This record gives sequence, structure tokens and C-alpha cells, in this order.
Amino acid sequence: MLQSMKIIGGYPLFGEISISGAKNLALPAIVTTLLTDNEITLNNVPNLSDVTSLLELLEYLGCDINHDTAHKQLILKTTNIKHTEAPYDFVRKMRASILVLGPMIARFGRASVSFPGGCAIGVRAIDLHIRTLQLLGAEVTIDNGFIKAYSPNGLTGCDITFPIVTVTGTENSIMAAVLANGTTRLINAAMEPEVEELCNLLNNMGAKITGQGTSTITIEGVESLHGTTFDIMPDRIEAGTYAIASAITHGKLLLKNCIYNHLEIFFNTLKSNGVSITQQDNGVLVENNNDKINSIDISTAPYPGFPTDLQAQYMALMTISEGVSLITENLFENRLMHTQELNRMGANIIVKGNTATVKGVENLNGAPVMATDLRASASLILAGLVAKGETTVNRLYHIDRGYENIDNKLLQCGAHIKRITV
Ligand code: EPZ
Repeated sequence: MLQSMKIIGGYPLFGEISISGAKNLALPAIVTTLLTDNEITLNNVPNLSDVTSLLELLEYLGCDINHDTAHKQLILKTTNIKHTEAPYDFVRKMRASILVLGPMIARFGRASVSFPGGCAIGVRAIDLHIRTLQLLGAEVTIDNGFIKAYSPNGLTGCDITFPIVTVTGTENSIMAAVLANGTTRLINAAMEPEVEELCNLLNNMGAKITGQGTSTITIEGVESLHGTTFDIMPDRIEAGTYAIASAITHGKLLLKNCIYNHLEIFFNTLKSNGVSITQQDNGVLVENNNDKINSIDISTAPYPGFPTDLQAQYMALMTISEGVSLITENLFENRLMHTQELNRMGANIIVKGNTATVKGVENLNGAPVMATDLRASASLILAGLVAKGETTVNRLYHIDRGYENIDNKLLQCGAHIKRITV
């Protein structure tokens, strides 16, 4: 059954929202179970369809899974493996399944993962994932839509320079290198907090990784890894999304557990928009009691730059700002699709290449709109919160991939929002 979200706009949001565990850390953290036959316990795992999809793949591969969704705890154990092949049906549902490639080749010496293919926001190449495995000594072939990697004698550490920053490419490389013979240095590695935390998890399991959080990560290969218990950090993209919900509705929201320095550049931008951002012991307070929202240009970049995963949400805010703002998307070639839907709500956005020119309008008008991808659907919900009248966001399955309980979290803060099954 398809679901939609009905929103009546115009209600400022007040209250507090608990930020859930980070999706883009939970996913790589889950696949670390493939690197050891000991038990891994993960706490604060968000209940998201992307997590469910990845667990279905791991179960198929032979992982024992105990998932206590009520307490957000996941206990994983991969004593032996039934398959070292990740079939297309799993991978096409959730492209981050490519993350099983590194750990499988590291522990079992062989792996076969279906090509993930592109998605709405772009081609989503994985050439750098493959290149790393080859540089580490694996024999990699592509046939029948599968990436097949073999390294019966193990992998050998070496220096690897990434021509561009890739988050899961860095993560796959780290997980391939942790059991390699010798030392691997990843140069121009991703510095995202999710990558840094994955390294901290792996070090808790006995890995020897240094430099995480910088652009050079060094991994000294070890014989084996052991189990551990690890807490998933709060989701900075979810937090940023609710920060914009507060700003766009001229509300006041406490983002509980939000880690301020994970969103430094983003929060500085909101401050320039005229939004008040205050760090507190238990999170970040976001308040907008200004009549107008200043138009500020942004250009997305790898961490610590402005996050591409908050670009669509920020655009929703700019549609009702004073003046004109330029929004440039530098990471993905097709991540401006939400502009058409925002324009249907009365926004004034012109796209040329990878830059959207957003001319602020007095108000948006509610309309039936179509979500195209995860963050675009968040952008449309944010627009619906401020638009005059009713907005219906269709294809809601996109939003449930990355936002836990978004309707109830907004409802509790005064939003007029309802999930309907059509
Ligand atoms: C991760 O995707 C995130 N997903 C994305 O979040 C996020 O948008 C992205 O990083 C950028 O921050 C997860 O962590 C599960 P990339 P990833 O490899 O790793 C090109 C969300 O909304 N590239 O950093 O797939 C690629 O095409 C999702 O939560 C190659 O050319 O992104 C892109 O243009 C969406 N070859 C750029 O690099 C490669 O081998 C950055 O992609 C790999 C990447």
C-alpha cells in the first residue's frame, strides 16, 4: 500500500525533538559484523527501512541477527557465512549494500556483489571502491552485473590516493585494509563524522587505525578483530532537517542530542539567515523569531563543507527568504529534482547546470507533490509546513528510508501533519 503525508501549513513548531541514531553510521557499522566471528552489539540503531534492507542482506549472507527495535539495540554475530554473494535484489533496494564488499574480501578472501546501479540523484559510480581492492592485491572482475573479487592469499597494505572524496569508498577501503598484511594509507580520505566513528568502532574491535577525521587515514593490518558494544551517534542530517523545520516555521525547537560541531558550517549559514542557534548541554536550540529570512548562497562540499544531504532542505527555506540565493550542488549530478516540485508550490527557482537560483516569494501554496529521493522528500515536507493550505507528499517510502518517525516527531511540536494510506 502506498502512503502519503498530508500537511496543513502555517503552524510554528515549538518543543523538542530527540535526534535518532545516524543512518550513515548505522549502515557501515552493521557490516563490521562480517569482519569477526565474535558478537557485535550496536545501541541507538535507528528504525529505518534502509537498516531493515541491509539486515535482510546480512541474514541472507549468514549473519545471526537479534534486533530489539523497541530498545534500538542490534546484536550481530557472523560465525560462519552461507554466501559471499550479495544478489541484485538486495543491492538494488539499498545501494549502500556495496559496503559488504570490503569486509567480505578481507575476512573470506572472496566477495561477489551485484552492481548497485545508479539512483535518482546520480550515476553513483563505484570505480574507486573497485580500484582500492585491486591496489590492495585483489583480483577483481566484472561479469553478469556482478563485481567479483578474489584474494585467496589475503590483501597487502599500500598507499592509496583518492582522486575525489568518497564516503563509502573510504569506508569500504578501511574495512578491506583492517585485516591486510602491512599498513595502508588512505590519502584524500573522507573526513565525515560517520567515517571517523566507523574507525572508532573498528578500533574498539581491535583494529589499528589512526588519522580518522582527517584526510589521511592509516590502517595497520591485524590478524583478527573481536566483538564489542558501540553506541551509534546522533544523525547530523536528521538534526539539520529539523533545524530548518524550526527556521521555516518561525518556531523554536530543541534538537536533543544534536552534536553542534558536526554541523558547524550549516549552523553558521543558518545564523547568517537570521536564525538563532544556541548550543546547550543536551543539544542545540534553534529559534527563528525574525520576520524575514536572509538569502544566503551555499555550495555543497565534502565534510566539513555544506552537506549535500541538507541541500534540498535548505532550498525549501530559501524559497521564502528575502532576495535571491544561489544553491550549487557539487557532489551529485542530478540532485536538484526537488526544484520542480517546489515550483509547483509557488516557489521561484531557475536551474542552470548544477546551480539553482532561488528568488524568495511571499509565501508557498499547498499542492500535491511527488517525492523523488530521500532528501527531496524531506524538502517537500518542510515546504508543506510553511505553505498556505494543504500539501500532500506522495511516494512516502523515500522518507522512511532515512527519517525515523518523522510525522510523530513533527506532530508533537505542533505540526498539522498526518500519514495516510492510499
Ligand atoms: C554517502 O554516499 C552517503 N550515503 C550519501 O548520503 C551522501 O550524500 C554522500 O556520501 C556524500 O556525502 C551513505 O553514507 C550510506 P560518495 P556515497 O561516494 O558514499 C562519486 C543520504 O541522503 N564517486 O561520497 O555513495 C559519486 O558519484 C545519502 O543519506 C565516484 O565517482 O557518496 C559522487 O559524485 C545520499 N566513484 C561523489 O563521488 C566512486 O567510486 C561522492 O559520492 C565513488 C564515488
